[in-house]
Amino acid sequence: MNFDEEDFEYEKKEINKESGFLEKNIDNMIKKKIDNKRIKNIDKTKKRAVIEAVFDERTIWELGRLIKNDIIHHIEGIISAGKEANVYLGYDCDEKEIALKIYKIDNNISKWMRNYIIGDPRFKNIPNNTSKIIYLWATKEYKNLKRAYKSDLKVPKPIYVKKNILIMEYIGIGPNPAPRLKDIKNPPNIGNIMENILQFIKILYQKANLVHGDLSEFNILFHNQTPIMIDISQGVSIHHPKAEIFLVRDIKNIFNYFEKFEIVLPDPETFYYEIIKTQK
Ligand SMILES: Nc1ncnc2c1ncn2[C@@H]1O[C@H](COP(=O)(O)OP(=O)(O)O)[C@@H](O)[C@H]1O
Ligand SMILES: [Mg+2]
Repeated sequence: MNFDEEDFEYEKKEINKESGFLEKNIDNMIKKKIDNKRIKNIDKTKKRAVIEAVFDERTIWELGRLIKNDIIHHIEGIISAGKEANVYLGYDCDEKEIALKIYKIDNNISKWMRNYIIGDPRFKNIPNNTSKIIYLWATKEYKNLKRAYKSDLKVPKPIYVKKNILIMEYIGIGPNPAPRLKDIKNPPNIGNIMENILQFIKILYQKANLVHGDLSEFNILFHNQTPIMIDISQGVSIHHPKAEIFLVRDIKNIFNYFEKFEIVLPDPETFYYEIIKTQK
């Protein structure tokens, strides 16, 4: 057992002694369905399996530390169960809502993640180990959010990252998370929404020097009449060898979405060249 493991074993015992609050927390979480609509298809046993898959022993230990260190107060319930990560509604010690995105430690997931890490000048030493890749991925989303947020873009404010746990501003009203753009049939002021999203792509590239890489109506929340861009973990530096391929893909997805509405769209190619011109 090396020092790190010893430390882990010791802290685990200490945390377990403190009344099994996490087990209670997780049980409550299973009972309380925050977003009934989105998880209604998952039956009880599957829901438990999802929670257990994400909450491996080390994650439970890490969550325990976050609670012990007053970074979070408690976790209230699940908002989304995804392939790579689950998102939970939690509260900080000032009783303010927070969103926790917890990545699953999964070997297959870590394999494709490597494609988005290799070549990014920000990440020079890429680990082989699955959990370390996942930790790097969570840090990457945190860093991307930070860059975007500093550029005054509409993204959730990043709060904290530790291992596979990312904490960010919660987008929603009370316990109701904001809907995705995809879930809104006829969004009001669609022209404005389009303008905001195109500006986002442009400023993200020119000021934050990033490409989102997974931009679509699935990763945009609609809150207070404003689109908020989320899920920026795949985001790459504009110096990444595939940055321009990802940029074209983002533009295509967004233009495809807006083509359904009766609005005048700019020419996508002109828009693309307008974005990249300052960097050439
Ligand atoms: N900061 C947030 N506030 C509220 N809901 C969020 C937040 N981040 C994510 N969500 C919800 O969780 C879902 C999944 O999050 P996302 O980051 O897109 O992960 P993935 O698509 O990889 O599962 C989103 O569609 C959204 O409904
Ligand atoms: Mg997503």
